[in-house]
Amino acid sequence: MKNMIVMKNIHKFYKNGKESLEALKGISFALKQGEILAIMGSSGSGKSTLLHIMGAMDQADEGEIYLNGELKENYGVEPEATTIRAENIGFIFQDFNLIQDFTVEENVSLPLVLTKEKSKEIRKRTKVILEMVGLSDKGRNPVTDLSGGQRQRVAIARALINNPKILLADEPTGNLDCNTAYEIMQIFLDLKEKEGQSTILVTHDPTIASYADRILFLQDGLIYGEYENKGGKGSVDEILEKFRESQKSAQTEKGQEHV
Ligand SMILES: Nc1ncnc2c1ncn2[C@@H]1O[C@H](COP(=O)(O)OP(=O)(O)OP(=O)(O)O)[C@@H](O)[C@H]1O
Ligand SMILES: [Mg+2]
Repeated sequence: MKNMIVMKNIHKFYKNGKESLEALKGISFALKQGEILAIMGSSGSGKSTLLHIMGAMDQADEGEIYLNGELKENYGVEPEATTIRAENIGFIFQDFNLIQDFTVEENVSLPLVLTKEKSKEIRKRTKVILEMVGLSDKGRNPVTDLSGGQRQRVAIARALINNPKILLADEPTGNLDCNTAYEIMQIFLDLKEKEGQSTILVTHDPTIASYADRILFLQDGLIYGEYENKGGKGSVDEILEKFRESQKSAQTEKGQEHV
């Protein structure tokens, strides 16, 4: 299977005055076409940092990023970053990030309005996408009228409106109850099945992760293991065990640094 995006030895530092924190310490992996890849990791392990770099919303300090097999020197650097985002990336945030004063349709169509698409095309595409996420009858409603699960559907629709090759979702089910979370996960699974969508999903929830094809365990800025979900729904117990192992390995390594 083709690699959609390849991350090689990615490092990221946050500087606060004289203090420097290494949030990513050399991350390497590839997202394959049509794959759902979950990323699990403790709070502060660097998941959002990694996703922002992949989404060309932030810049890595070291390392290489290949998109469709091509090395992109200026991946997170403007003005290239805007083009990379517009042509390749759909981003979904945990807190939905919708514009409160806008209706569902206005939120969903915003990326196309910004790229100055024709209004007929915008209407057509918005209708198709709202159907896909099961919100056909809510287009004219203000987003403030909607439930959490419905708002996340709007956010997914907005991320999908310009046919992104790669969908990045940062804890898309984090604020939802488990039934609603499952319904949202089902949208990602349908997209994979019907459109061959390639998706990265950050999650704390081993049940949600169990629907992914593969899980990476990120701790303290490094990948400490991987779970391959061969032949369908993975075992939640096995995933939890792997997650705890990755936490232990990271702690052991940290302990050794101080000897
Ligand atoms: N803008 C920033 N400036 C300084 N430090 C930051 C910044 N953003 C993140 N960090 C630090 O980088 C590390 C990784 O943060 P990140 O947000 O990527 O973690 P995360 O795995 O997404 O955590 P969570 O599960 O809580 O969302 C943390 O130690 C965090 O404090
Ligand atoms: Mg985060």
